[in-house]
Amino acid sequence: MTMDELKRQAATRALEAVRDGMKLGLGTGSTAKHFVELLGEKVRAGMKVIGVPTSEATRADAMRCGIALTTLDDVDRLDLTVDGADEIDPRLDLIKGGGGALLREKIVAAASYRMIVIADDSKWVSALGRFPLPVEVIPFGLAATRRAMAEVFAKCGVSGQMVIRKGTDGHVFVTDGGHWIVDAHLGRIQDASRLAGLLSATPGVVEHGLFIGLASTAILAGRQGIRVIERD
Ligand code: A5P
Repeated sequence: MTMDELKRQAATRALEAVRDGMKLGLGTGSTAKHFVELLGEKVRAGMKVIGVPTSEATRADAMRCGIALTTLDDVDRLDLTVDGADEIDPRLDLIKGGGGALLREKIVAAASYRMIVIADDSKWVSALGRFPLPVEVIPFGLAATRRAMAEVFAKCGVSGQMVIRKGTDGHVFVTDGGHWIVDAHLGRIQDASRLAGLLSATPGVVEHGLFIGLASTAILAGRQGIRVIERD
């Protein structure tokens, strides 16, 4: 089975949690894209849901699939968000943002009663940090922000290269919010929760890819089958 088929399997299982009338957060990335496509099939078969997309790419996909869309200004809390991740640890804390949509993804996840994270099982790790941590920053004063980030990393016992993300065209990658991303190559993060708090308090940092305590369920598809893990 290919990686893409595993992603689709995880998305298919997540669809079982969707009920008629739900308000849904729609994630971003190649795994979430499967979920949006499968949801679109349900909608075309008569299911009524309304979605809040976490990126312009997902907005376009959802519209193409015929899914009705809204914004967080027009609805109260969302019933469920389904999204992918770059890393998932045993507490169901996550690294997200490989696709650059972490800011909207976190706002939408935090506005949801429940978040299901879907992935192929290569994303399961014993500790976060092998995947470079995406940190969304304001371009203004970037050198100062990077120095402050390095101090935060040192306080948390991690260090590593900080690389400004480039797009496939070789230019600086610009997020949907007009910001840049610094990918921090930290290695094993001992205390992700502390690092998350300190990064959030750093001027110039708009958001970071540590999703702490947001996911309630992980659906991991592997060659041996599907594992569903609930947060304690
Ligand atoms: C998007 O910004 C990310 O948070 C994605 O959810 C994450 O990178 C997972 O993407 P894939 O499903 O493509 O691996």
